Amino acid sequence: MKGLAGKTALITGASSGIGQAIAIRLAEEGCNVVINYYSDSDGAKDTHRQAMEKACADVENCGVKALLLKGDVSKETDAIALVQQSIDYFGQLDILINNAGVQTDSPSEALEADSFDWVLGVNLRGPYLCARETIKHLLSSDRPGSVINISSVHEIIPRPQYLSYSISKGGMGNMTRTLALEYAAKGIRVNAIGPGATITPINDEWTDDPAKKAEVESHIPMGRAGTSEEMAAAVAFLASDEATYITGQTLYIDGGLTLYADFREAWSA
Ligand code: NAI
Repeated sequence: MKGLAGKTALITGASSGIGQAIAIRLAEEGCNVVINYYSDSDGAKDTHRQAMEKACADVENCGVKALLLKGDVSKETDAIALVQQSIDYFGQLDILINNAGVQTDSPSEALEADSFDWVLGVNLRGPYLCARETIKHLLSSDRPGSVINISSVHEIIPRPQYLSYSISKGGMGNMTRTLALEYAAKGIRVNAIGPGATITPINDEWTDDPAKKAEVESHIPMGRAGTSEEMAAAVAFLASDEATYITGQTLYIDGGLTLYADFREAWSA
């Protein structure tokens, strides 16, 4: 895609799932990638290996580089260090992908405050901190840039028993639009994708059980869950120069999940 080669992208939570697929896809498009991970260093190394394989498949002297950085996005010192070390290593940072995310389930009347704080910390405080540091760098170096938040269909669909997750993704939607408006005139675009049910480790509970998977997929108009690669393709598009006039949007990639599947057949006169 246009305009990605030679850029530098920081992807948070890139040791598995959607973040791993994004890092690999952006490297394939010629971006230098910073692979942030929290604890799974083997997963991060696997992302690094696959990213370099894709990036350098047809190129003799491949210029693409990847850097592994450990860090907890919810901690201010870690978020500052992630962005600074990316800039120190590559000399610039052009693209931030706020992907790291966690979830817990509990009836809302029993939701522990610590659990609430943890989900909001990773899913909302982390993206705010990483965006703040990236935007600061873009403004001070007078560079255009792109921030892409990995939100969810639960940015707009309420999810009972996942109160903290629903709040975090709803907040992420407003963060996307607020930052987009604030920095549009500076050439900094801020967008999001809203994945539907996607086959990744966060969904182990149903992806590994054929009956539960069929039950989940029965609610999806296209009849199947999505893949991390399908999410990564949309992220590459939004980060590229094919999307230079798009800002403040959440693009739902969900097989039709946000189309009110219950209306597939008429249930009222
Ligand atoms: P995943 O569990 O494979 O990825 C989440 C990543 O975040 C992991 O690599 C994990 O190590 C990392 N992480 C957790 N806490 C962290 C922290 N404090 N600092 C840095 N990294 C941390 O799951 P998946 O599905 O790839 O999730 C990626 C994003 O996609 C999340 O934001 C999730 O909410 C979102 N999403 C996923 C959907 C799905 O069906 N898989 C649907 C909608 C949104």
